[in-house]
Amino acid sequence: MKKILTVLGARPQFIKHCPTGKAIRDCGMEDIVVHTGQHYDYEMSKLFFDELQIPVPNVNLGIGSGSQANQTAAIIIALEESMIEMKPDLVLVHGDTNSTLSGALTAAKLGIPVAHNEAGMRSFNRSMPEEINRILTDHCSTLLFCPTQPSADQLLSEGIRDGVLVIGDVQYDLARIHRDKALANSKILQEHSLLERHYVLVTLHRPYTVDDPKRLAQLFNAFSALDEQIVLPLHPRTKARLHEFNLTVPENILIIPPVGYLDMMMLEMSARMIMTDSGGVQKESYFHGIPCLTLRPETEWIETVQAGWNRVVDTDEAKILDSARTEWWREDRPLVFGDGHAAEKLAFVVKDYLG
Ligand code: UD1
Ligand code: UDP
Repeated sequence: MKKILTVLGARPQFIKHCPTGKAIRDCGMEDIVVHTGQHYDYEMSKLFFDELQIPVPNVNLGIGSGSQANQTAAIIIALEESMIEMKPDLVLVHGDTNSTLSGALTAAKLGIPVAHNEAGMRSFNRSMPEEINRILTDHCSTLLFCPTQPSADQLLSEGIRDGVLVIGDVQYDLARIHRDKALANSKILQEHSLLERHYVLVTLHRPYTVDDPKRLAQLFNAFSALDEQIVLPLHPRTKARLHEFNLTVPENILIIPPVGYLDMMMLEMSARMIMTDSGGVQKESYFHGIPCLTLRPETEWIETVQAGWNRVVDTDEAKILDSARTEWWREDRPLVFGDGHAAEKLAFVVKDYLG
């Protein structure tokens, strides 16, 4: 039986591995998971394994937080030992975190083929650690699974021709499957006395946004001027920065701890609008047909902007207020993220490649 070792470390990767792990097992391959420990709080990690019934990782390296170089290097050193011991036939990595790059680099240097899910995504902003992670991971991968055609075209423009496949987006697979479950089971609206379409859902966690006191303050001023109920499930990085910068949280913002996947889906589906700097949340707002404002200077999920459901507004108060008060989004939503079977395609291609 072929052994596929998936490296996971951060919240969005646990979520992405729910459909890909299942597809790997369904294809008759062994699904081994190494958790780097990059995310470790219960509600940033174990909650997702429990709720989405993802098998417990075979190993948790327990690396935890650190500077960019420290965290990446520590993961690489620990991963090398695991990969030598476990002898996988292929290593799978998702997205653009430090765990992604560490997994890809370690495997490539050990001569193990690497598959990258979400290949070819680019924001063209190299001051973000994720952009460096995306580029380097793609350039040492053997199989490059692209969510959309433009991401495959991007790889071609960088000289990557072999092993590139457009499969759609595994987060779309998962959202389709869990939509009804969220509607039936989530009590998050009642828990916080929220009314459907009477609040704006906000998420913030990118260092580019939250590590800069000026940008964070600009956003809070804009949220305050919005004068509308805002719900903000707080990422631990943002929690630490709010404390450090001693920023006053506007009264219209309800801060709650990070929530599980089903509660997050419910919050997204019921919001009037979503404002975020998250990659995954931009996509999910599109899946659910909720207009989104991206609180960054640019986005790698450009299809959502081109389709007329996402506006890139950065931290500009005038743009945020104008986009929150006018109806600028379109009626139709073309299927740009595949047919809901991306994970199965990924597993099939991996199996075929390994022969
Ligand atoms: C990481 C990824 C980012 C991804 C995000 C998903 C990188 C460079 N960044 O950002 O691409 O979008 O995950 O959420 O890989 N912390 C805790 N508990 C935890 C995890 C983190 O308290 O369980 C705090 C620590 O103070 C830590 C900080 O959050 O220093 C940042 O964590 P880290 O994993 O370095 O980056 P994220 O901002 O979470
Ligand atoms: N998410 C969640 N609970 C939260 C915030 C986000 O379950 O409190 C989910 C969200 O629905 C999406 C994923 O986490 O599936 C996105 O992860 P995140 O924003 O942390 O990272 P990014 O996608 O920006 O890398």
